Amino acid sequence: MKLPIEPSTRVLVLTGAGVSAESGIPTFRAAGGLWETHPVERVASPEGFRADPALVWRFYSERRAQARTCASNPGHHALAALEKRLGDRFLLVTQNVDGLHRRAGTERLVELHGNLFMSRCSRCDRPPFDDDTVYDAGKLPGCARCDRAGSFALLRPHIVWFGEMLDASHLARVERFMESAVSEGKLLFLAVGTSGAVMPAAALVDLARRLGGDTWLVNAEPADNASRFHHFVHGRSGEVLPSLVSP
Ligand code: OAD
Repeated sequence: MKLPIEPSTRVLVLTGAGVSAESGIPTFRAAGGLWETHPVERVASPEGFRADPALVWRFYSERRAQARTCASNPGHHALAALEKRLGDRFLLVTQNVDGLHRRAGTERLVELHGNLFMSRCSRCDRPPFDDDTVYDAGKLPGCARCDRAGSFALLRPHIVWFGEMLDASHLARVERFMESAVSEGKLLFLAVGTSGAVMPAAALVDLARRLGGDTWLVNAEPADNASRFHHFVHGRSGEVLPSLVSP
């Protein structure tokens, strides 16, 4: 089976943790997944960070240490190759923070939930910056700019936590892409490796359908929103994508 990509088709891809599972990065909601072993409200919410920043930094330092040892897999590479073919007719929106799409060569990329290898100040407006530091347990990193100004402010991971707003410019870029796909040709929406449990990513399929797009899901098991897709390809992304998106 191949995706029906014609010269007028624009492809919006949404990926989730399942795409990186074959790289050895744990997903969130599976039995033994990250949210089973680490209570989400303690490690991925502003309240959790205020209550115990050392615990939150230990969690994200462990994630950094692990992701650094992982390599992108055939699923990431297939999507990067699809972008090479389509150019500006391609956009990849990922919920993953592991940086593996970029390492596989994807350039037209929206990182909806942030980036594990970036930090920002929890207080000042210094822009987010590259940071792959694995902090020692108990170490609380401070903002260098606030330090120079004579006060202490904690750094925090550049991750969108539960209860926080997504970057509005990211969503606007995705919507613009979908609308221009429809006005200038056809829209094909492909979701891969995501449980469909987290908004607003889970609702992109509905927007694509409202705009008349063709919607595809590749997942190892039926996602929560699987019935809202026109096509469901059951399987592992690293095995399915190379042939599904090939010319
Ligand atoms: P989940 O852990 O909720 O879902 C991963 C999905 O991938 C499941 O439906 C699996 O069946 C599927 N899957 C597993 N291995 C696969 C494979 N090799 N090929 C294809 N599918 C596979 O992860 P997400 O949907 O990404 O947010 O979770 C969304 C967000 O919830 C995450 O970005 C994270 C989390 O809270 C933040 O941390 C901000």
